Amino acid sequence: VREDEFQVTFQPWNRTVFVLAGTSIPEAAARAGLIIDTPCGGTGTCGKCRVQITQRASNPNEVDHRTFSGEELRCGWRLACQTAIVCNLVVHVPTASLFGGDQQIVRETSVAGRGEVLPSIHKVYVELTPPTLRDSTADLLRLEMKIGSFQTDLAMLRQVPRRLRAHGFKGTAVLSDCRLIEFEGGDTTNRCFGVAFDLGTTTMVASLVNLRSGRELAIASRMNPQVVFGDDVLARIKHSSSCAHGLDQLRRVVVEESARMIQALCEQTGVRPDDIYEVVFAGNTTMQHLLCGIDPSQLGEIPFAPAYARGLRLPPGELEMPINPRGVVYVFPVIGGFVGGDTVAGILATQLDSMDGPVLLIDIGTNGEIVLGHNGTLWAASTAAGPAFEGARISCGMRGTRGAIEQVILDEDVRLGVIDSVTPVGICGSGLIDLVAELLHHGIVSPAGRMLPSDGLPTGLPESLAKRVQQDDEGHGRFVLTDAGPDVATKALALTQRDVREFQLGCGAIRAGMAILLRKAGLSASNLETVLIGGGFGSFIRRIHAQRIGLIPWEIDHRRIRNVGNVSLAGARWALLSVKARERGEELARRTQHVELSNDADFQAEFAEAMLFPDQQTYR
Ligand code: FES
Repeated sequence: VREDEFQVTFQPWNRTVFVLAGTSIPEAAARAGLIIDTPCGGTGTCGKCRVQITQRASNPNEVDHRTFSGEELRCGWRLACQTAIVCNLVVHVPTASLFGGDQQIVRETSVAGRGEVLPSIHKVYVELTPPTLRDSTADLLRLEMKIGSFQTDLAMLRQVPRRLRAHGFKGTAVLSDCRLIEFEGGDTTNRCFGVAFDLGTTTMVASLVNLRSGRELAIASRMNPQVVFGDDVLARIKHSSSCAHGLDQLRRVVVEESARMIQALCEQTGVRPDDIYEVVFAGNTTMQHLLCGIDPSQLGEIPFAPAYARGLRLPPGELEMPINPRGVVYVFPVIGGFVGGDTVAGILATQLDSMDGPVLLIDIGTNGEIVLGHNGTLWAASTAAGPAFEGARISCGMRGTRGAIEQVILDEDVRLGVIDSVTPVGICGSGLIDLVAELLHHGIVSPAGRMLPSDGLPTGLPESLAKRVQQDDEGHGRFVLTDAGPDVATKALALTQRDVREFQLGCGAIRAGMAILLRKAGLSASNLETVLIGGGFGSFIRRIHAQRIGLIPWEIDHRRIRNVGNVSLAGARWALLSVKARERGEELARRTQHVELSNDADFQAEFAEAMLFPDQQTYR
């Protein structure tokens, strides 16, 4: 742990992170994968972000005094948004203070509503009376009399008589919706698991969930191995049709990686693969097509029609998933050619359709998906944000994992927040947003995106920052974050002029898409009540920085902007846990209007304009 960093442990999950001094509790929680709800934008007026600091609580401020009783304050209750971290802390976060509450961390005993645990898979233990001369009721009927009517298939029917007799007519029936899919000897009701996947263009995240309690047991994340065939969806579509085995190559690598992730989750938790009965995938339309081995070439041509729209229920064998072969794989419904299951999952997880006022969800990944909800109508679009936010195509970019710079502060010098507090090895999306915002703020990068030469820097810039502005061998500017270490493995980290250009493209595309959706709804940015920022950064985007770089229009009061984390995974997990949520997802997918940006006459003009960073005078 470095001197200027503190250790914060979040209970009851026992997740520990290291953060720079002065980091707020919601930021630190986001680092630990917990999104604290901050409806008032952290101004201390809503009283929603309550946490209990169980060790070394700092003195309450005025707002805390107004919010809590004397006894509560003595017990360490504070508003998370009002508390900056200045020492090591242990923080207890009640479920009610989390964005999405039960749905984010589903409780052991769940209640109806967002946290309900009502999976399509359920298990019932039965003890049947064996048939006799007096009672020769058929086996299936005997079982139905105990657990209610169900359907089954011939393969299962062939197994049931033998299994019933082998286990003395005692065992566990496994039902998927109302279909009998398995009959297991003994009571196995406490062994019932599922896996939810967020299948991104650059990254894949999987969550192993106990389908009885709703509790998440473990999470795994990997690079999507398809990146070697191109780093955005268009490149993948092209690869799938450009050579004879292209499609199969793309399908195989993602299927194999998913299988490895499931196996890794099983090894980590001791869960047997046969006790996993369901896998849910939410990804963009191209990723879902490729996973299923469906030729995506039509997604690369006008009018970009997908092969399917409703969710798919598939046997695990067809997708080569190493789970119980009698289980189910559910692939999310899609909205259109470029707005897929991940967006449906995001709308589902945030319940965007029922939020008050015009509300915008921006899910930032390799594609920037944007959804606007207004008066019960939903519009969605996808922009090619480029993989910059996920660390690809940036010279020192990386995902939000160990060793990634996830926070950058430029004051007298450079201060870096690094995940797991180790020597930095690269920079992830949130760090990049911080860095570009700070460079703009200090005038080191111009609003046009040009990195100024060292002899053209603004006067008054601290010397320690000015000397970091250098030129590479070809005369291109770069800003040095860390110097090379003594060993070859520790290379210098710098942001180059090309990186800034790549980053501008990503921001501009999202910003232009947003402008077009707002126009469709007859709104302007200042009408927005709420802006939700999602994305699997593994970290927290600082709102003011998102506005400085123009990712979010400056007209929006920053208190209306909320980080919501990986909503695609949250939605996939919810669909795994609740048939009602799954039905809702199907309905949302059909209801949402797909706006095809490439068809929009104004898109190019909007994009060109949005490429410029906002004039920094606005923020000074
Ligand atoms: S009081 Fe902390 S977010 Fe509203």
